[in-house]
Amino acid sequence: MKVSVIGAGHVGETVTARVADKHIAEEVVLVDIIDGIPQGKGLDMWESAPIRQFDTRIIGTNGYDETADSDVVVITAGVPRKPGMSRDDLLNTNKDIVKNVTEQVAAKSPNAILIIVSNPLDVMAYTAYKVSGFPGNRVFGMAGILDTARYRSFIALELNVSVRDIQAMVLGGHGDSMVPLPAFTTIAGIPLSHFLPKEKIDAIIDRTRKGGGEIVGYLKTGSAYYAPGAAAAEMVEAIAKNNHRILPCSAYLSGQYGLEDTFVGVPVKIGRTGIEEILEIPLSDEDLQLLKSSAESVKANIAKLNL
Ligand code: APR
Repeated sequence: MKVSVIGAGHVGETVTARVADKHIAEEVVLVDIIDGIPQGKGLDMWESAPIRQFDTRIIGTNGYDETADSDVVVITAGVPRKPGMSRDDLLNTNKDIVKNVTEQVAAKSPNAILIIVSNPLDVMAYTAYKVSGFPGNRVFGMAGILDTARYRSFIALELNVSVRDIQAMVLGGHGDSMVPLPAFTTIAGIPLSHFLPKEKIDAIIDRTRKGGGEIVGYLKTGSAYYAPGAAAAEMVEAIAKNNHRILPCSAYLSGQYGLEDTFVGVPVKIGRTGIEEILEIPLSDEDLQLLKSSAESVKANIAKLNL
């Protein structure tokens, strides 16, 4: 398994470290435009290998030759948000970056699976899909796992239970219109509504929707990276282990949920070939409506792309 991570900033370095710690890849190539950053971070991480006990070789570079024939490429290149910005404010800057990166990646690794992390997530996943020309099952975005992790972490705090026992799913676009699904949330198989009244659940949903902004508000100079990095590494692991995990990811839709030619977060089954199946779960009318309006806002941004 060869993995490349494009963008050696906060998210890129975190994905790389997590992938190495999982013992799932022979090699991770870390690429950035800034001379010295991927080389320095890559070497530093490799020097942690004897302590962390991994054999994944980590190579930092400013070019794409070293990425040739990657099985998976994680794209984190781009600018992050600052306080007061929405993810959509990054659209024009990150579109050019993701377009350029995707062209270079696709030329060197025509059979790779692309995992997009740059924001605005669903629109950047669409950009990579169009620019690469890869089939939809090999291009998907990391958002649902992160949003679901935030939701689960808040529920665990509220109930004082292990995060491991919370099963949940957050769908929709990676923004304020995301769609947490309390009806599909259980604690060790017991419905969430057994533990919490509606007002508490609504407050957790609201905090989840604004979870990225809460971190930006604290950091001030950038956005979250520990949870996003861990989420992207979990997707790489699902591909590497081919264990057919069902995870919420931003996927290309061609009619599912009544949505066409767009990316939005839905439950998918992931294996060695990428997305093996998009699951159409029976949503309530209200949740389906929320998913559709979330997809509408993604589509409105896609229309601005001029690809
Ligand atoms: N090619 C390669 N790397 C690039 C390019 C490019 N064309 N343009 C920018 N980069 C690099 C920057 O040099 C920087 O090292 O991308 C990196 C981004 O790192 P950070 O600024 O630390 O941002 P980060 O927090 O990692 O977020 C990256 O992920 O979660 C999203 O919204 C976030 O879009 C942002 C992206």
